[in-house]
Amino acid sequence: MEIAGRFSISARRMSRSIIRELLKLTSKPGLISFAGGLPFPDTFPGERLKSICSDVLTTIPEVALQYSPTEGLPSLRETLKDFLKSRGFDAGKKQLIVTTASQQSLDLIGKVFIDRGDTVVTENPSYLGALSAFKTYGARFLTVDVDRDGICTGLLRKRLEELKTNAGSGNEYYQNMPKFIYTIPDFQNPTGTVISLERRKELLELAEEFDLIIVEDVPYRWLRYGGKEIPMLSSMDTGNRVIGLFTFSKILSPGLRLGWMTAHETIMDKIVQAKQAADLCTSAFTQSIADSFMKKEFMEGRIADNISIYREKLLVMLDSIDEFFPENESIELYKPAGGLFLWIKMPEYIDTDEMFKEAIDRNVAYVIGSAFYPNGGGHNTMRLNFSYPSSEQIHEGIKRLGNLAKDILKERS
Ligand SMILES: Cc1ncc(COP(=O)(O)O)c(C=O)c1O
Repeated sequence: MEIAGRFSISARRMSRSIIRELLKLTSKPGLISFAGGLPFPDTFPGERLKSICSDVLTTIPEVALQYSPTEGLPSLRETLKDFLKSRGFDAGKKQLIVTTASQQSLDLIGKVFIDRGDTVVTENPSYLGALSAFKTYGARFLTVDVDRDGICTGLLRKRLEELKTNAGSGNEYYQNMPKFIYTIPDFQNPTGTVISLERRKELLELAEEFDLIIVEDVPYRWLRYGGKEIPMLSSMDTGNRVIGLFTFSKILSPGLRLGWMTAHETIMDKIVQAKQAADLCTSAFTQSIADSFMKKEFMEGRIADNISIYREKLLVMLDSIDEFFPENESIELYKPAGGLFLWIKMPEYIDTDEMFKEAIDRNVAYVIGSAFYPNGGGHNTMRLNFSYPSSEQIHEGIKRLGNLAKDILKERS
């Protein structure tokens, strides 16, 4: 039976995530993988969650085992607003919805804003999961390079000015201009960079000037190991233009599949309609667990513990790179001050795609950087994750990778 011909246009646009496919290779025995992006299992507060589960089932089974409103449990929504406030963002008039983690938020945003052929601005490189969520709805990407201060707002301005000249006016304008700017301002995935305060201001000014929406995705914001905190775009937003995406995945557990989103009420109304069609509501059980965890004031301690675990692992990775990587001025290391990833630019003449096969032969894996460039590029880059492997594995894995890099550079010179 012919099946493929019956798939919808959007289904035909879908493909398996390259990262997930690469991760299959990394199940090879003895291989050390820097390819994933998983939190370290020791950061999961299993015992606490066990007792909270039992508590929740004893005290509020009629809530936890029931459907919840599509927007989320009122109690958790209040808790989350308080949490954001304590961290510098007063959601004020913006509305807050609980989602089945940020990947769902990205999908809902795609569903609500993108028609086939629409343009979305993304950082270059950017998070693969967002790119595939938007691609499913037929998005084209206007990519703007990232340097050590995050998205290059000067370049963005140029591109927007070019687009504006032919954009027309009224509804036509909104159809022809990008539907939104998608950004990961804090410890970006994959580069680990943070957008400077100056550029954040510029980004908001551009949004105002060109009448654009910004989607701010901050899964790593609270995993800071150094440097000074810079305000969220969401909290700097005076024009109600920023949609904020938040998640429990990296601060508590990705297995809960729990996140939340803040947005202007007109946007939120559509998001709620889209979510109703997608899953009616996020699990009331996991919402109740997260609410109780936060109400018992365990969250700040959890975040602090995660920070000390990940800071230590990052230091081991940086020290190991110092010890084992070749000394070469053309190797650019993006040392992150938070998050889960370290980004490396190899010299232009190195193809990290080619290098990957040899890395697997030497029992070490990373993510090929080109996977994060929606319109091509980044052939000499790689992303290394330091949250999941143990310190011993990080040391040994970087030794293998560093030796491989030395051999390749020697061969090429
Ligand atoms: C930038 C970014 N956004 C969103 C997600 C999705 O996270 P989740 O669906 O677990 O909340 C990830 C996961 O790695 C991410 O890196």
